[in-house]
Amino acid sequence: MPLPDDDKVVALANELLATFDQIFGLHPGYRAAHAKGIMLKGTFKPSPQAANLSRAEHFSRELPVFVRFSNSTGLPQLPDNDPAANPRGFALRFFLAEHRHTDIVGHSIDSFPNSNGAEFLEFLKASIESPAGSKTPTALEQFLAVHPATVSFIEAPKPTPASFATEKYFAVLAFKFINAQGIEQYGRFRILPESEEYLSQEEVAQKDKDFLVDEMLERIKNKPVRFKLVVQLAKDGDITDDATVRWPEDRPLVELGAIELTEPVEDNAAKQQQIIFDPIPRIDGLEASNDPLFELRAAIYLLSGRRRRAAAPVS
Ligand code: HEM
Repeated sequence: MPLPDDDKVVALANELLATFDQIFGLHPGYRAAHAKGIMLKGTFKPSPQAANLSRAEHFSRELPVFVRFSNSTGLPQLPDNDPAANPRGFALRFFLAEHRHTDIVGHSIDSFPNSNGAEFLEFLKASIESPAGSKTPTALEQFLAVHPATVSFIEAPKPTPASFATEKYFAVLAFKFINAQGIEQYGRFRILPESEEYLSQEEVAQKDKDFLVDEMLERIKNKPVRFKLVVQLAKDGDITDDATVRWPEDRPLVELGAIELTEPVEDNAAKQQQIIFDPIPRIDGLEASNDPLFELRAAIYLLSGRRRRAAAPVS
């Protein structure tokens, strides 16, 4: 996974990383965002129709996978029952062969507040400049007044799940699927649980700080945790390079396969510290769209990941 050639993208990634550090503080060995998590292992079994959409090799044979579930924010100690821990994260790695893998990175809401990194940086800076009690209109209010997509993201419900296993996840950005005949189609990944279940505010308040991690460790002892990997297909003319724009819900959903998780990854904290997920697939048959968030995120996850690996081991 290389850094992008474009120096401007790398500079913006560094500036965003520094801004995350400013908001959440430095926590060496942990992620700058989605800092608290748990990683499980299992398998992915593609559906028969997956290969019709993409010739990518993970859509034609069963493979081992890791999934890292995470809380939002760069605070590794943020309690699981803090509402700020939503949206939850989901990062999936398909192991293709030794030293070869491809990933899908998503979160539990089907949108993002901004279309590009510069605008996201502006949003974060406006938030920093608008602590409670600031003179109105605050920098944040001024930003939101002209960025309706950010308002929609902030206002969208983000309920706390009963379990990481009862939440649905979205990769949000559009990908180009290319099959063996060279036919190209755009789609967006969704990862759907066997059943969805969320908690009321009263129930959330009664939970403790590690309830999601503890629940998962207990649950997986008894039975596998299963998800379906699904793709929402675009129609011609749908916007594919802007994560703030949703496609109509009548777009077809195609099941790509089944994820079955059976046990926690051993040396969990060390493996989480080591692994660097990549939002760009980098595999024949599946490509990033022209959404500018791809290159930027790939850069920031790599920069942050290198720093995390270089820190003292966390336990
Ligand atoms: C401008 C856009 C974005 C920025 C600047 C950003 C920033 C970050 C950063 C700094 C990290 C920590 C990386 C690390 O240390 O490993 C991270 C991780 C993560 N982000 Fe983003 N992000 C963006 C967009 C998104 C979107 C659109 C999604 C969901 C589709 C998402 C989901 C995640 C998840 C799940 C993780 C944790 C991955 C893991 O478990 O390693 N991010 N992000």
